[in-house]
Amino acid sequence: MNGNASVIAICQEQLSAEGAAIIQYAFHHEAQEVWGYAKLSDETFKAAREEMGHFAKLSSRIVFLEGVPVGVVKPDVTFGATIEEQITLDAALEEAAIE
Ligand SMILES: [Fe+2]
Repeated sequence: MNGNASVIAICQEQLSAEGAAIIQYAFHHEAQEVWGYAKLSDETFKAAREEMGHFAKLSSRIVFLEGVPVGVVKPDVTFGATIEEQITLDAALEEAAIE
């Protein structure tokens, strides 16, 4: 199937956002574990895995449309220096993905 270039571009844009989310959640998951927030760390890891599923489905869809998935992360990933900052950053990432 030969996909529409604009549809592939939209999928690629979303793929980049999913990649950013995976990395940011992974950073925060690891920090939360080190800081002793085991339960929060587990939840953050679940969020990272969920984003991995979205990433995989989008890359599959791009290939199905005969595009080539590109591993660019966008927006830039930000590491939160505190739990509060991490939650705020993760929420902002989710809100940006919805827009
Ligand atoms: Fe996602």
